[in-house]
Amino acid sequence: MNHTTVLHLHTHNTSYLIALLPTGQPANLYYGPRLADQPHWDELLPAPAAGYGTMVTYDKNYPSFGLDDVCLETSGLGKGDFREPMIELEAADGQRTTDFVLTGWKQYEGRQPLPGLPCSCGNCRTTELQLADKALGLRLVLWYHVYEEYDVIARCAAVYNDSDRPAVLRRLMSAQLDLPGGAYSLLTFDGMWANERQLHRHPLSAGTILNDSKTGASSARHNPLVILQHKYATQQTGRCYGCNLVYSGSHAEYCEVTYTGKIRLLTGINPSGFSWLLQPGESFHTPEAVLTFSDKGLNGLSQNFHRFVNNCIVRGEWKNKPRPILINNWEATEFNFTEASLLKMAKTAAALGVELFVLDDGWFGRRNSDHTSLGDWVVNTQKLPGGLAGFAAKLRQLGLDFGLWVEPEMVSPDSDLYRAHPEWAVSCPGRAPCESRNQLTLDLTRTEVQDYLIKTLTDLFASAPIRYVKWDMNRNISDPYAGGLPPARQGEFYHRYMLGLYRVLERVTGEFPQILFESCASGGNRFDLGMLCYMPQTWASDNTDPAQRLSIQEGTSYGYPPSTIGAHVAASPHFASLRATPLETRFNVAAFGCLGYELDVSRLSRVEKQAIKAQIAWYKQHRELFQFGDFYRLEAEYDDTKTVWVSVSPEGDEAAAMLYQPRVTPGRPDERIPFAGLRPQAVYDVVGRTQYVNVAALGELVNRVLPFKLRQGGVVQAVIAGQYSLTLSDERRIAGGDLLCGLGLPLPPQFAGTAYNEHTRLFGDNDSRIYLATLHEES
Ligand code: GLA
Repeated sequence: MNHTTVLHLHTHNTSYLIALLPTGQPANLYYGPRLADQPHWDELLPAPAAGYGTMVTYDKNYPSFGLDDVCLETSGLGKGDFREPMIELEAADGQRTTDFVLTGWKQYEGRQPLPGLPCSCGNCRTTELQLADKALGLRLVLWYHVYEEYDVIARCAAVYNDSDRPAVLRRLMSAQLDLPGGAYSLLTFDGMWANERQLHRHPLSAGTILNDSKTGASSARHNPLVILQHKYATQQTGRCYGCNLVYSGSHAEYCEVTYTGKIRLLTGINPSGFSWLLQPGESFHTPEAVLTFSDKGLNGLSQNFHRFVNNCIVRGEWKNKPRPILINNWEATEFNFTEASLLKMAKTAAALGVELFVLDDGWFGRRNSDHTSLGDWVVNTQKLPGGLAGFAAKLRQLGLDFGLWVEPEMVSPDSDLYRAHPEWAVSCPGRAPCESRNQLTLDLTRTEVQDYLIKTLTDLFASAPIRYVKWDMNRNISDPYAGGLPPARQGEFYHRYMLGLYRVLERVTGEFPQILFESCASGGNRFDLGMLCYMPQTWASDNTDPAQRLSIQEGTSYGYPPSTIGAHVAASPHFASLRATPLETRFNVAAFGCLGYELDVSRLSRVEKQAIKAQIAWYKQHRELFQFGDFYRLEAEYDDTKTVWVSVSPEGDEAAAMLYQPRVTPGRPDERIPFAGLRPQAVYDVVGRTQYVNVAALGELVNRVLPFKLRQGGVVQAVIAGQYSLTLSDERRIAGGDLLCGLGLPLPPQFAGTAYNEHTRLFGDNDSRIYLATLHEES
């Protein structure tokens, strides 16, 4: 094929080549490391010498050319491409065949926002491809927003009905990425309540993998983030493609490998249960898909996502702004609290250095359990006699800001709101709707429900000096039906729900720019780029056990920066796992996110309070490093059961590295903790964060280091453990950046039952330590 125009979309480190084929299709020639501009890209064009058996010839002028084995930018049904299509629709005459061919293209600086949908923002250059199906009178537009400095190409599409007859859209995915193939695995992030975003690797072979949600939310089941990792790629090296969706509703990612090994990746609104009636003159816009590529391994890919999210997804006053250290009362009290009990907790928290108190569920209506009152956003004055403003004033006297929990999208059947407007709850005609956590979902497809929420929340958030809001959503949506829409539009329910929610979020968050919003959905059931456009952080999981938070936060880190991850220190043993873990480990894991505490600090021992005070003071000194530094997942040499996380300042002058050990095994080889991202020529001071060791956790061993004898499990031991602690040796070292990144920091031997002195490293089950590297003064 000749006379072909090739468009070169490029970022700092990547190139994306689109060929405008003479047959009318935009084809993908290349996506990968940056190429120099050159005139011979024609060599990359599909040039089949002869057709193959069963091939459908698309155009008689090109007898050996069929659509099925070409990397295309968009595909439909019925013209010989038999892979999963990007667009599928039903024309007025019933035909499902579509044939969109190029009619024009343009390139310009900047971009337009998406109608009704959140999307990325910032400096970008746009390529717009215009296609038409002349037989149907439909137009399809593909946009490519190229964010040069972040190595990101954000794609979206829209279909316009220019004909005088209706059409029914069955699917319009946000992006289709066709790659020539290779030895890749698809990485997905799957789970459930309290076990979100667990990494799974699916080596690709012929067939299709579907990663999707049908719950009405992006879901904990399958996050919209997917990654293609080359067989030879590691955390630090090799080729990876990443794809995420700026959307919070039901989504689908198809990854298909064809008979010739080509890969097709599709992402967008889940076609399952979806349809959209396009009347003459109407159009439909997809959410935005975010594509990135790195040849610097999975860490390089994640860092592309992290920078992009911090700069082009999160917006408003809290963009790139350090997040407050908060205390949340939920795990300590659930619904059972009084103003006095909250203030007792708040007073201790303030003394320990906490900055903001979050009043969680149970402050409104008659909400003493999860059976009632969602929708009645009126303060319960039996619990808070002075109302929210009175409570906030008391917190202020303690030096704390005030944050509030709400779950606006829901209604309890036992609520004044439901009694006044039963028709506002989602339900199908002739059926009783299913409840989940004893609650129903408000029908956000209705404008009157959106307006009601905007007004109620605006009044509520203006009623007290609120600095933070936790916006929860605690059920999957069942019985989908939009009461205000005709039967032919019922396939629009889930997407219209999202459009309604986004309208409410746009208005409410826009009204209160000073409020830091944190989204939540039964923990991390709606952790996605759509919510992050309105709410700079997300509660990652109700599971606050650090042993399990490790994989939850690590899974999350593949696509989302630490600044977006809500992470709290909870009580031990943990409420969900009954696992006991050291207080320092609970902190060390939570420190790699937006730190909070979620336990009754007023009930802790003197030693525990001292430890928390030190943790908070230390985190305040380094919080920008943890929240906005370059984050690396590394491997502990000799032992892949251990976890190593590193955060490095963008300039490479400061880094924090955490080593986590799930289980002690005596008789280990020498251990080292690797760093990354430091300046190779510079010299660093490295020091272990001062950590306390609970005397009781040492059992009989403590008798070797104390001048007196304690009985294991005895009362005296418990009392002493509350009053006294051991401090770990600080393990101070000086080392070059090249050595720390190349070899790692050699650590002193772990205690192994033979001797204990100040050089022995006490490191038990679920133990961890953070090592801080700072530039040595002379360097
Ligand atoms: C959800 C959240 C929790 C808490 C409760 C309150 O489960 O994930 O953090 O807010 O709701 O009901």
